[in-house]
Amino acid sequence: MSQKKLVTIAPMSKNIAILGAGGIASTHHRGYTRANAKVIGFVEVNQTTRAKREEEWNAPGFASFEQLLGNVKPEAVSICTPNAYHAPLTLEAVKNGIHVLCEKPLSLSLEECSTMISAAKEAGVILQTGHHLRANWYVQKAKEIITSGELGKVTFIRARQSHDWGGSGRVPDTFSTYARAGGGTLLDNGCHLMDLVRNLGGDVKSIYAKTATLAYPVEVEDLALAHLELNSGALASIENSWSSIGFEEGFWVYGTKGTLECSFTGSQPRDLKHYHRASQDQEWGARDSITYKVGNEGGHSGEIAAFLESIEHKTQPICTGEDGQESVRLVLAAYQSAKENRAITL
Ligand SMILES: NC(=O)c1ccc[n+]([C@@H]2O[C@H](COP(=O)([O-])OP(=O)(O)OC[C@H]3O[C@@H](n4cnc5c(N)ncnc54)[C@H](O)[C@@H]3O)[C@@H](O)[C@H]2O)c1
Repeated sequence: MSQKKLVTIAPMSKNIAILGAGGIASTHHRGYTRANAKVIGFVEVNQTTRAKREEEWNAPGFASFEQLLGNVKPEAVSICTPNAYHAPLTLEAVKNGIHVLCEKPLSLSLEECSTMISAAKEAGVILQTGHHLRANWYVQKAKEIITSGELGKVTFIRARQSHDWGGSGRVPDTFSTYARAGGGTLLDNGCHLMDLVRNLGGDVKSIYAKTATLAYPVEVEDLALAHLELNSGALASIENSWSSIGFEEGFWVYGTKGTLECSFTGSQPRDLKHYHRASQDQEWGARDSITYKVGNEGGHSGEIAAFLESIEHKTQPICTGEDGQESVRLVLAAYQSAKENRAITL
């Protein structure tokens, strides 16, 4: 099967600002450039990073959002700062009539998420949450296969995201403290997977989780396991870790008529495999399969193209503020479960 993009590139040029110019910001910048949007300025509090990005992006850098707004007029912003600043910067942007693509997690509390969602609605601007997996072709294809009924009844979803910070031996400051990050791998990686499970399997009924800090001297957890019961009756398991070697991102969807498997470790193509049985009387270990060749393109460019399209056409974003809030709700329930050692019903 050949690769096919389900998200198209927005044709209109837009003026964009990026708030926070660290690691993920470069992916946003690349996405805007590919979609013919123009990054007309950015905010970065670190002077060295600001100078580096000014040269690299050929755009003016500012030390605060206020300074940026005094100099350039963006139609939309990407918020790529540490988690603790997502809410205040979103509120500032929407107050100025600016559309927001906010990196995940949307914010650190349900109340903050609600305030962000209402403020964007009142201002009539788009608020998109940066769960980029929704824009990945293999997730969209998986959803299409599940929705078509080809997989039968979905019984179990397993999702895993793990890495070791590129072998650097340390957790970066943005992610290592409750004050800046709000949590560890369960929040950082887990919020993506909570959204993935909801996207593929529907809403969640209850959650039971365990967390641990085993690999790094940090206050937040570096390992987390969450078991979910979905409203459909299916079960799901979410595994997040900063404590295993290398990188792995994958999901496995088990249905009564088939299985989907998509696992990526950075070194092989990110294929989506669809296993099924062509006839009932095959051997136990024999499965028929279809492989969808996907390539290694992540969903960031796709989510940015989708963001620009929803601004252009005034349509609902690919991942709404409410979706972002739901994954925060699930992560917070998982933390409560781990703390109280009991299942939490939502
Ligand atoms: N969707 C994804 O796959 C993905 C991947 C990585 C990170 N993220 C999210 O993106 C955000 C940033 O992560 P990162 O990996 O780029 O971190 P990072 O530490 O590399 O970059 C954050 C940058 O923001 C700057 N900054 C801090 N406070 C600021 C402020 N008030 N205004 C402007 N700039 C400020 C820092 O100096 C730093 O350069 C986090 O919310 C993280 O969860 C998402």
